[in-house]
Amino acid sequence: MLVVSTEYSQILAANVAKGLDCPLGGVKFSRFPDGEQYLRLSATDRHMVIVGSIPEADALIQILLLVDACEGAEITLVVPYMGYARQDKRFHEGEPLSARVIARVLSTGVSRVLTVNIHDRAVLSHFHVPVRDASLAGEIGRYLEKSEFSSPLVLAPDEGAAAFAGQVAAVCGWETDHLEKTRISGNEVRMAPRNLEAKGRDVVIVDDIISTGGTLATAVAMLKEQGARSVSSVCVHGVLAEGAYARLLSGGVREVACSDTLERACSRYSAAGAVVDGIEGCW
Ligand code: R5P
Repeated sequence: MLVVSTEYSQILAANVAKGLDCPLGGVKFSRFPDGEQYLRLSATDRHMVIVGSIPEADALIQILLLVDACEGAEITLVVPYMGYARQDKRFHEGEPLSARVIARVLSTGVSRVLTVNIHDRAVLSHFHVPVRDASLAGEIGRYLEKSEFSSPLVLAPDEGAAAFAGQVAAVCGWETDHLEKTRISGNEVRMAPRNLEAKGRDVVIVDDIISTGGTLATAVAMLKEQGARSVSSVCVHGVLAEGAYARLLSGGVREVACSDTLERACSRYSAAGAVVDGIEGCW
């Protein structure tokens, strides 16, 4: 078995190779004068593991080129962050089902696919090959346990994320709840924990993705108003678009932490263990 990665997932791929106790293959990446991408593998094996997140279109092209370069091998494709997965419905007439498009493309030429906390598990049904989704709830829980919190409360930003937050909280043995939006007037919305009080507590908001940080910024401001002692946030995929990281910290968030599905300076815990388990245990 040989692990290779796109340029976007090098650190995670190295840790996955270590966990699988197999070599990490070298890949040379360059571009043609017109901007098109080129790559070349330094070695191949009968079983190739390709690791590549998709934060942008060039990352998808690198995966497709790697898959083709591994032609003839049994290929396990690991997509730690699957971009385009959030457009999983036709919200308006004339829109594509982007998540389905990407799932179909990623199914071509590979034996199986492993994703990590995909935005909606329903997207998995669009793959044409066996697919699994690994969850980092355990990793987040173990990461949080190392911090010193006073009366910690794990909050999901909405009801949809409540089960995930609950799994995280269960690891730490902490209380959990989800935020509920109440419309006070035409332009005024209140966000507060549905059942519990935030007052005097160290609150940790757990979500799958922080993209613009808009959801979180609103929640933080409201929780502070409600007397939370501190508000931290941990997500799986730190997309951090539009200056989200700086905006959140300047808005009073104690810490913004994410995994290495997207390699960021605030990647504080790794998806490698869950990916290794997924590769070793599922097939
Ligand atoms: C929504 O369903 C997701 O779980 C996240 O809450 C959302 O994608 C975060 O987006 P943003 O950071 O732009 O508010």
